[in-house]
Amino acid sequence: MPFSPFKVTVIMNTSFYTMKLFVYYIIAGLITNKTVGALQILAIEYIPARSHWNFMSAVLQSLSDNGHNVTVYTPFQAGNRSNYTEINLELPSNVGMDAIETLKMFGKPTDMITIVMNMTRYFCNIAHEQKDIRELLNSGKSNYDIIITETASSECSSYVASKTNLPMIYVVPSPMLTHIEHSVFGDGPNPATVSHLMANHAVPRTFAQRLSNFILLGTSLFALIYKEMELKKIDPQPYDLVKPKKPSLVFMNTHYITDAPRPLPANVIQVGGIHLKSPNSIPNI
Ligand SMILES: *[C@@H]1O[C@H](CO)[C@@H](O)[C@H](O)[C@H]1NC(C)=O
Ligand SMILES: *[C@@H]1O[C@H](CO)[C@@H](O)[C@H](O)[C@H]1NC(C)=O
Ligand SMILES: *[C@@H]1O[C@H](CO)[C@@H](O)[C@H](O)[C@H]1NC(C)=O
Ligand SMILES: *[C@@H]1O[C@H](CO)[C@@H](O)[C@H](O)[C@H]1NC(C)=O
Repeated sequence: MPFSPFKVTVIMNTSFYTMKLFVYYIIAGLITNKTVGALQILAIEYIPARSHWNFMSAVLQSLSDNGHNVTVYTPFQAGNRSNYTEINLELPSNVGMDAIETLKMFGKPTDMITIVMNMTRYFCNIAHEQKDIRELLNSGKSNYDIIITETASSECSSYVASKTNLPMIYVVPSPMLTHIEHSVFGDGPNPATVSHLMANHAVPRTFAQRLSNFILLGTSLFALIYKEMELKKIDPQPYDLVKPKKPSLVFMNTHYITDAPRPLPANVIQVGGIHLKSPNSIPNI
């Protein structure tokens, strides 16, 4: 084989690049080694309702089962496990409410929205007074990597994430609440194609349904924005002074098999049914 200076250069060049790549792999491995592994997750359950906790706790359980370390402030206790710590959050219980009262309270969309707005701000105020959470808010520093929480009307539940500048995931234990959709996703639904959560149709088809859907969306947005403005005025809170943080992801209790078709942003992960236990056989008696 004749000697070729070109070939030698190519071989030398190739081995030089292989070596460079090798060194790059080692350095990259050393740098990234630390960040690979379990997340330190802080979760706060602001809504003292059992059904909300059923779903939230299932999401947290699946995260801790997969090696992440979860610390959760919650009004309900299921017991500590490895990589899962519960801290009691004293909130006035919404369990065991009178059925007639409940229907009266939540039956009308506009009434429900104003009541829940006041309620969520009230729960946020209590949670933010909790010793550890207060410290977190004051220092703005934490060892956590991510915050998981829930929003029902007021975006006050994003305050801890804003102050600590951590990425946040919202857990929605129901289909999307239409009136908070624009604040959570940054874009509202089109009332001509997506039904309001409290509409009596899955998909608006006729002109009358589209019109009533539009009016329902309009009145519920008005009720939400007006009530929040009013409460900000009569009872101003520290979280009113910061721009609410938007979630990086939303885990929603929906599934395309059970829900009406609709467009969703790419950051919505549908995890419907994650809280369902696997069925047992009927016991022999
Ligand atoms: C808890 O987390 C640690 C560190 O991430 C991990 O080594 C350990 O296996 C986890 N324990 C369980 C039971 O998953
Ligand atoms: C998990 O979180 C708890 C509470 O924040 C902490 O005490 C513990 O050291 C953490 N465990 C690991 C393995 O990081
Ligand atoms: C779980 O651990 C936390 C922190 O160690 C403790 O405050 C809490 O009381 C424990 N919860 C239960 C139900 O044992
Ligand atoms: C808001 O909620 C608090 C606490 O439940 C209650 O005392 C207050 O009357 C409510 N305010 C309005 C305007 O509904």
